Amino acid sequence: MQVELKTRILPAGAAAVAAAARCLGAGGLVAFPTETVYGLGADAASSAAIARLYRAKGRPAFNPLIAHVGELATARRIARFDAVAMALAERFWPGPLTLVLPKTEDCAVAELATAGLDTVAIRVPAHPLARDILRAFGGPVVAPSANLSGHVSPTVAAHVQGDLSGRIDLIIDGGAVAIGVESTIVGCFEVPVLLRPGGVTRAEIERVLGRALAQPPEDAVGESARPLAPGMLASHYAPRTPVRLDAAAIAPGEALLAFGPATIPGVDAATAVMNLSPRSDLHQAAANLFGYLRALDTTGARTIAVMPIPRDGLGEAINDRLRRAAAGRERT
Ligand code: TXA
Ligand code: MG
Repeated sequence: MQVELKTRILPAGAAAVAAAARCLGAGGLVAFPTETVYGLGADAASSAAIARLYRAKGRPAFNPLIAHVGELATARRIARFDAVAMALAERFWPGPLTLVLPKTEDCAVAELATAGLDTVAIRVPAHPLARDILRAFGGPVVAPSANLSGHVSPTVAAHVQGDLSGRIDLIIDGGAVAIGVESTIVGCFEVPVLLRPGGVTRAEIERVLGRALAQPPEDAVGESARPLAPGMLASHYAPRTPVRLDAAAIAPGEALLAFGPATIPGVDAATAVMNLSPRSDLHQAAANLFGYLRALDTTGARTIAVMPIPRDGLGEAINDRLRRAAAGRERT
């Protein structure tokens, strides 16, 4: 039987940072903002805390977690950095980039968090509150997005509360996040592979690498294969309402997720309309994406129709999340 926890919510500040560090140290689960989305933190060295985390999210244990650390020096105790990894870390950390690297011999991250792989995903977040919590706690903290598994990632504390209240110990409310889509994940294998598009654009990374990022093999993103980026399951990031992409017109009973200044036929019959960015700004669209999907999900529309969004820059991550939102309904 799952015993309902009392989930405390604290506003950002010194008291919240101290409470978060204490709670993590006691094996607790703490949601806190990062610059990308809210994360659900647990002590990366504690199998018991990590087991609780998988249970709280309803996440399959074959889907490994990202270890968050305060600085590169700590990351180097967990994973082996080659020249490419060093170049990326130095350019983009702290920031919305996750590197998948070979574990060190004495990697402090529990096996359960890496799903038995010999690699570990690491990032140094840029959000001041996340950094304060990592510094106060002192060790690596695993932190998946603080949503129920398969659901849309949270960009404000209320989203976390809606999904996880009663299942976690503490939520630190730091307001809305700045970026709104998750970190970019790069696998530092023989050739660097883009495992998940995200807050750092492909072009920015390729400029540092001086070469193109490789794509993961097609079957890495299927439901059946053991994926290279195990979280790249087709139906991640899904609202409950079906999502229809590249809408050129709206049918009665549909809600519209718009982009840009243009209108489309049928919009007057839409049950609700939200515009990700009337001025066609992809940063603004990314910041609004998950919140608007959650809002439209509660309007009773039979479908959320989404207007086409450019694929360049942050548009690659936005289109990736929308494609997953539109994929099958199985919860992963
Ligand atoms: O922006 C972010 O990255 C947020 C914030 C909280 O930091 N976190 C996040 O975590 O998005 P999560 O658990 O929702 O997504 C982590 C992804 C999953 O797709 C997982 O499969 C992948 O990272 N991953 C973790 N370890 C991996 C590994 N060793 N090899 C390949 N993929 C890995
Ligand atoms: Mg997630």
